[in-house]
Amino acid sequence: MNQPELYVALDLGSNSVKCVIGEVADENTIHVIGVGVENSSGINKGNIVNIDATVASIKRAVAKAERMMGMTVNKVILGIPANQSSIQDVKGVVAVNGDSREISDDDLDRVLESAATMLNSPDHEVVNQIPKKFTVDNLTDIKDPRGMLGIRLEVDSTLISSSKTVLHNILRCVERAGLDVQQIYLKAMTSGNFALTDDEKSRGTMLLDMGAESTTLSVFKEDILTNVAMIPLGGDNLVKDLSGVLKIDTSQARELLYDYGRAYCDEKMIKEGLTVPVVGIDFKEQFALSYIVDILQDRLSEIFNLVLDELYNQGVEDLPGGIVLTGGVANLDGIQKFANEHFNSRVRIASPTQMGARNPELTGAIGVIQYAFVEGMFYGEFSDEAPLEPIQQGNNNYNDKRTKMDQDQSEEPKQGVMVKLKDMFNRFID
Ligand SMILES: Nc1ncnc2c1ncn2[C@@H]1O[C@H](COP(=O)(O)OP(=O)(O)OP(=O)(O)O)[C@@H](O)[C@H]1O
Ligand SMILES: [Mg+2]
Repeated sequence: MNQPELYVALDLGSNSVKCVIGEVADENTIHVIGVGVENSSGINKGNIVNIDATVASIKRAVAKAERMMGMTVNKVILGIPANQSSIQDVKGVVAVNGDSREISDDDLDRVLESAATMLNSPDHEVVNQIPKKFTVDNLTDIKDPRGMLGIRLEVDSTLISSSKTVLHNILRCVERAGLDVQQIYLKAMTSGNFALTDDEKSRGTMLLDMGAESTTLSVFKEDILTNVAMIPLGGDNLVKDLSGVLKIDTSQARELLYDYGRAYCDEKMIKEGLTVPVVGIDFKEQFALSYIVDILQDRLSEIFNLVLDELYNQGVEDLPGGIVLTGGVANLDGIQKFANEHFNSRVRIASPTQMGARNPELTGAIGVIQYAFVEGMFYGEFSDEAPLEPIQQGNNNYNDKRTKMDQDQSEEPKQGVMVKLKDMFNRFID
């Protein structure tokens, strides 16, 4: 299989846009060879509220990653947020084509298409389909039916869909930044696949991606994403709380959070009466560390309680595999211990281990790369063109890239499910 080795992922976060370039040897061997992280403006709680500002943030992040690589990025894989997305279990059925009755790629395409037509929300678009099992005639639990003989092919799938408006806005921004979208994935799904161990995914575990303006939960059981929800609170609320309660500037509150913030204070720390300094232009103040911890715990408790409410509402009764924290807020000292006590559950922090990308803020982008590789192995490559090319004279500005992208699309070879999905995205942003 002519699998492309390089993948470029884009994660549009409320605090920062991340562009990560990865070279993938196999599912568990991803080398990060380019990273561009730039402050984002125009994105609120995962929603795009200003297209021009978002386009500018994307261009800055991509340009940074390009400079690290000395190459031009043409195509990206996009991770999208969980707001206004939903999960639905569906079935698809087709008769096997051809006299030989051997199941082909075309039969696989048709059965997946038949399952996708079962989407029951008219204002949503299918983003991803995860086939759970295939059935050929009376033989079930088949992972890949191609090459088998049969008359009737069935699939049990999980459909992930997202609001057409949300998708339109995201695709429009990426397109306006001069980039072609190779594939879209729900980040809650790809981050979970990347951050959770096989055992956690099978036993029933929740990933909590704690970002700047949102906290996204995704539950995995029996290797499948079963629940997803977004709570519109995150690290920026911690900053605002420190700023409001201590009456300090937002920038000082952010510094305080990063330098001295803690989500947990043990007896010894309280007895020692530790203090933390805040230095302004015309003042210097000391605050008790235990006071800072109280402020942060109040907000974290609220977020965790909303997560528990959501689990209850969605009928998730237990999480035998525990809870895994990721996203920028997972950097906060003591958060593992606090979450462990609050949820009364096993809690661990997940952060990428790749050199140059060891920050839980990058879980989203690297998860997208890993998933694209695995999906490409199953369905075949999504394009025979590399997502990057050497910087050439006259081909290093976005307008040039846009023109080239338009030409490329009309010449795209038509093959397999991945290309069909790509066609859907192209239709969608026309
Ligand atoms: N050391 C730290 N201590 C506390 N908070 C931190 C630390 N490092 C990062 N954060 C928080 O993490 C947030 C950024 O995380 P992340 O990059 O995952 O968010 P995002 O993806 O941009 O936002 P969202 O997912 O909500 O759209 C910042 O708002 C900051 O408050
Ligand atoms: Mg995020």
